[in-house]
Amino acid sequence: MAFLRVKPGGIYVDGTVGLAGHSEAILKASAPDGFLYGFEWDEVSYGLALKRLVPYEGRFRIFRLNFSEAPRVLKEEKVLADGIVLDLGLSSFLIEASGRGFSFRRDEPLDMRMDERLKLRARDLINRLSYPQLVELLRNYGEEPAAKRIAKAIVEARKKKPIETSLELARLVEGVVRRRRSGQHPATLTFQALRIAVNRELENLGKFLAEAPEILKPGGRLAVISFHSLEDRIVKRAFREDPRLEVVTKKPIRPSTEEVRRNPRARSARMRVAERCGL
Ligand SMILES: C[S@@+](CC[C@H](N)C(=O)[O-])C[C@H]1O[C@@H](n2cnc3c(N)ncnc32)[C@H](O)[C@@H]1O
Repeated sequence: MAFLRVKPGGIYVDGTVGLAGHSEAILKASAPDGFLYGFEWDEVSYGLALKRLVPYEGRFRIFRLNFSEAPRVLKEEKVLADGIVLDLGLSSFLIEASGRGFSFRRDEPLDMRMDERLKLRARDLINRLSYPQLVELLRNYGEEPAAKRIAKAIVEARKKKPIETSLELARLVEGVVRRRRSGQHPATLTFQALRIAVNRELENLGKFLAEAPEILKPGGRLAVISFHSLEDRIVKRAFREDPRLEVVTKKPIRPSTEEVRRNPRARSARMRVAERCGL
């Protein structure tokens, strides 16, 4: 809230509403007359967010759309924002309660679509991609050092029967990758890669960042919280190279030890903030 300089009467965009934690904080800090445009593509989260925001009726609109559509929507609405926030990736709700196979600790169908209107599921990629395509996916979206070994194991296993569940995939990866020194589960990067590919996460982020400055007021701020280095690199470069933006955070903001203790999922979060140059 402090980096976005949320103030009464301001116009804000939350591109990743989730269960509306940030949206609610923005509506509170911009009371009595601030306005929020929200974007959330998962149907269940969208419904829960609308319920949570009932007390702020009349001060927000939430669209069940990809945030890459936000610049188009705001242009159609003929408004410019004072602040935009993106809090990328999965919510705890999607990991723990959606039943879509995001976690290697649960036995669920290998789906991984955050938006169930998307066509391809994780099981389609796992069972249909060729060996070189699997290697490329694991390298490009997971930076997985054991990409070849994992791809080979997948191709061998699916000759016998298709790989259908998150636990089947996790076991298969555990069979060929040793526990990592970092303490990371052997299947972490495989799951990350699949999820990014299914949801076209890097493409969405790139498209959004290229257009976001067009919907910011001069002096308006854009804050992006990312959870892995692939995303963070895209944000860092976009902020640095866009002449319409000035970087506010020379180094990314990291959570305090206290915050990580309270919320271990915050441990890899990095927030970068940029400001729309005034002209
Ligand atoms: C980390 S959570 C956000 C949590 C939120 N800040 C809160 O306070 O509850 C990310 C959310 O963004 C959504 N999301 C991710 N990528 C999206 C995209 N391209 N378009 C729209 N929503 C997206 C996910 O479905 C998820 O609910």
